[in-house]
Amino acid sequence: MIKDSQARIIDKKSWNNYYLFSLESPRIASQAHPGQFIMIRISHHPHPLLRRPLSIHSKDEKSIDIFFQVSGLGTDLLSQKKVGDILDILGPLGKGFHGGASLNGKDVVAAGGGRGIAPLYFLAKELRSHGALVKIFYGGKSLEDIPLKEKFKRENFDLYCSTDDGSFGFKGFITEYLKTELEKFTPSRIFSCGPEEMMKKIAQFAAKKNIPAEFSLESVMGCGFGVCWGCVKRIKKNGEEGWVKICEEGPVFSSEEIVWTEEEK
Ligand SMILES: Cc1cc2nc3c(=O)[nH]c(=O)nc-3n(C[C@H](O)[C@H](O)[C@H](O)COP(=O)(O)OP(=O)(O)OC[C@H]3O[C@@H](n4cnc5c(N)ncnc54)[C@H](O)[C@@H]3O)c2cc1C
Ligand code: FES
Repeated sequence: MIKDSQARIIDKKSWNNYYLFSLESPRIASQAHPGQFIMIRISHHPHPLLRRPLSIHSKDEKSIDIFFQVSGLGTDLLSQKKVGDILDILGPLGKGFHGGASLNGKDVVAAGGGRGIAPLYFLAKELRSHGALVKIFYGGKSLEDIPLKEKFKRENFDLYCSTDDGSFGFKGFITEYLKTELEKFTPSRIFSCGPEEMMKKIAQFAAKKNIPAEFSLESVMGCGFGVCWGCVKRIKKNGEEGWVKICEEGPVFSSEEIVWTEEEK
């Protein structure tokens, strides 16, 4: 059953346009899996009316973290909340990434672009706890778009950063960096979240190399739990293509399931 919770903001950090909040929510923390998300009511006023979806970035016993980029009114209002404020949240929602003991001792890649890095920290920690050897590929337009690089470094993850303008790490897209590195090793699985064009490129070269891959898709969400049909995408299930509610069946899908949009080819 979907549960509505009141969660206190217990910590807040920010880097330019990016924010990291810790929310006190023992129930969600005890149930959450990497790749799942929460829906947050931004305001008690009629506008913005709809809750906004944000991935669970990490968790400990009593709290969960969210990491977000200000991209419009809702995230802007959210960024102005203070430590001690109470948020009305729903979750954990959706189906997350797969993987666990079967990846013990194997190389895996988690590739995120910009705010798409959000669910990959939780995933990377979980995969490592199962013995996987996790390489993080983290890309952004500029140095200021990869604010979590220090956090990954502190956790001793094998970190590969890129910036489009060359202000930090590899100069170019994270897809180009990953493609170059995949000449040197073949991971057992690739996990990715970020702009659709980025994930589509990763899906293409993962397919060429026969590497199983999973992607966390985004869509504008009205409810987050299967009622409004606002989030549908074309997905293939058992060979049949159809409209699927990504809040319920996803947001994580395998390469073979996703029907990438034509104009992004
Ligand atoms: C399952 C899921 C998990 C997400 N996790 C994160 C996260 O961890 N961190 C993070 O920063 N963002 C995340 N997003 C994206 C985030 O939900 C949107 O950026 C946010 O809802 C925009 O709301 P807004 O009111 O700020 O912008 P709006 O004013 O509503 O819109 C501003 C612009 O953003 C576009 N937009 C609105 N909603 C979305 C959306 N869901 N996806 C893509 N574009 C959108 C609009 O079309 C418009 O161009 C996630 C989205 C989904 C579906
Ligand atoms: S967001 Fe309402 S059905 Fe998916």
